[in-house]
Amino acid sequence: MAVRDASSLLVGLLVLFLTWGAWADVEVNMEDRVEVFRGETAQIACMFKSSEGIGAMIIQWFYMTRGGEKQRIYYQDITTKIVDRGTPFTDRISVNGTGATGDVVLTISNVQLEDELEFICLIRSVTGEAGEGRTKLKVFETPNLPSIESVQTGISVNEEGLAKIGTCEVKNGFPKPNITWYRNMTPLRTVQDVVKIMPSITTESSGLFSVRSELSMKVMKEDKDDQFYCEVTYFVPGGTRMTETNRINITVYYPSTAVSIWVESPKGKIKEGDSIELHCQGNGNTPSSIITIKHTKSGQTWDNDVLVLNNVTRLDSGVYECISMDTDTFDEISGDTSVFVNYLDPAVVMPQDTIEVDQGQKLQATCNALSSLQMDTAWFKDGQEVSRGHSLILQNATFDTAGMYMCVVTVPEIEEMETSGTLLVHVQGPPEIMEQDYTEMDLVFEKTVDLSCHARGFPAPSITWITSDGKVLKTASQEETEDGVQSVVSIKVTSDITALCNASNKYGSDAVTFNIKAKGSGVIIAVIIICILLLAILGSVLYFLYKKGKICGRSGKQDLTKEKSNKDNIVVEMKSDNTEEAVLLGVNGEKQPPSDQ
Ligand SMILES: *[C@@H]1O[C@H](CO)[C@@H](O)[C@H](O)[C@H]1NC(C)=O
Ligand SMILES: *[C@@H]1O[C@H](CO)[C@@H](O)[C@H](O)[C@H]1NC(C)=O
Ligand SMILES: *[C@@H]1O[C@H](CO)[C@@H](O)[C@H](O)[C@H]1NC(C)=O
Repeated sequence: MAVRDASSLLVGLLVLFLTWGAWADVEVNMEDRVEVFRGETAQIACMFKSSEGIGAMIIQWFYMTRGGEKQRIYYQDITTKIVDRGTPFTDRISVNGTGATGDVVLTISNVQLEDELEFICLIRSVTGEAGEGRTKLKVFETPNLPSIESVQTGISVNEEGLAKIGTCEVKNGFPKPNITWYRNMTPLRTVQDVVKIMPSITTESSGLFSVRSELSMKVMKEDKDDQFYCEVTYFVPGGTRMTETNRINITVYYPSTAVSIWVESPKGKIKEGDSIELHCQGNGNTPSSIITIKHTKSGQTWDNDVLVLNNVTRLDSGVYECISMDTDTFDEISGDTSVFVNYLDPAVVMPQDTIEVDQGQKLQATCNALSSLQMDTAWFKDGQEVSRGHSLILQNATFDTAGMYMCVVTVPEIEEMETSGTLLVHVQGPPEIMEQDYTEMDLVFEKTVDLSCHARGFPAPSITWITSDGKVLKTASQEETEDGVQSVVSIKVTSDITALCNASNKYGSDAVTFNIKAKGSGVIIAVIIICILLLAILGSVLYFLYKKGKICGRSGKQDLTKEKSNKDNIVVEMKSDNTEEAVLLGVNGEKQPPSDQ
């Protein structure tokens, strides 16, 4: 403005010089620039004053063509207002104000990119004095949202020169938007041999600008986690705005400086029969490396970074080495780990399988297993723990000592590791027949009964059954038990029987006697026969008494005799009611004279 003012002052002085004293001037004031979005309406104000007053001014608007010519678009005086025909603005402009107040406004609607021109407001008085002002119209268009694309392939740090990282693009802005690349939070600029940013600008047919920018870089291992993005700045009326693309990262290939190998599973101690999984990994990111796992003891190798060994044995113990070879440089690096496969061999019981011990003597046995780990040993009999530790010592053996012993070897550190062995103990001694519940029994005639005899002792006793009259009974069944023999005979009861079970071996013998009394139907028949006989006797006795009474009972004792005989009759009736009682009465009656009753 100051310059403008100064220059107009200079022009004024020049005019003053040329016209000699005829002082006359029009002063015009305008904004340097008016800024507006494309498609919107622009208003360009023109203010003026004159020493002669501001009535009856001629107002004209021009624009400067790209060729540098002044092109009128509007004319106005006291009587007329004319929009010049055939200009780009003919249909889109209007001017407000008559000029009487010293200001007019040129309104341009639907501003286009081509409208970015310089507009001139020329004011002339009727006496010929004139002044003009200029305003530049600036047009803006907000660009589309920017986009970013990263390279899809990984980048090796061994790559020579700069590698392309990605491309940013922003379309349809006006004026030209700027693209700035960022790595993490830091803007990038071109640095020789390190960073190259290549922008390219396209003018679309619409006149809008599209900008692309390609970033190339010397990639290092440290860049593997970097995030890249673009920032787009563009002008808007009255300022600048900024947008960002989303972040991209790149895949950086870099060689390993170390490899490690480890047992991925199982996590704890390893035992024979397990499946183990070894993993090998380098600290680099190298699609082009070859990984080999080697069992140093056997020399066996596997070309893989994961090794699964099934059903391992102690032979699989040892050092496993992992070798990683870079196929670009043929550099080899390696790492190793030790694997130990724990084992537990089958239990060995001494003496083997069976042991014979004399009654009253000491029983001694051991149970051992070979293992890489600490073991616990326990002895069991019939599911009950009888001893801890690998040796079994039992004093004073009895038949109760005999039987099957089991030794169980466990490894506290690895729960599933277990082995076991058995030992059959025979206690040598004369047979001993187990106590019987029934050796005396009353049995119904003709019944069959099973007599059972269980004799302990070793060697297994032989059992014979003999009746009291020396008859040998046939054995119905005989089976060996853990500690002796069990024998059974079947007897049909026909009379009282005494049976002897005799168990004997080379150390001696033991016997038990069964007494069976036959009872039941046979006895009852005998009782009935006796009753009939007694009745017959009683009948004859009564007849005899009656006869005797008739001879000597005439003296008047007849009544008494009659009473007596009545009583006797009652007795007989009772007898026929109950046979059992009749026997007893009969017996009593026989011993005691009926007269006493
Ligand atoms: C774009 O960059 C140029 C050159 O550095 C600068 O003159 C201009 O002002 C920038 N534009 C924006 C919108 O920041
Ligand atoms: C970029 O990094 C994120 C994690 O930070 C990851 O999930 C993604 O896969 C990476 N993308 C590329 C292209 O490397
Ligand atoms: C049992 O048998 C053995 C051997 O046959 C014999 O020596 C022993 O006297 C018998 N015992 C009895 C009570 O019969």
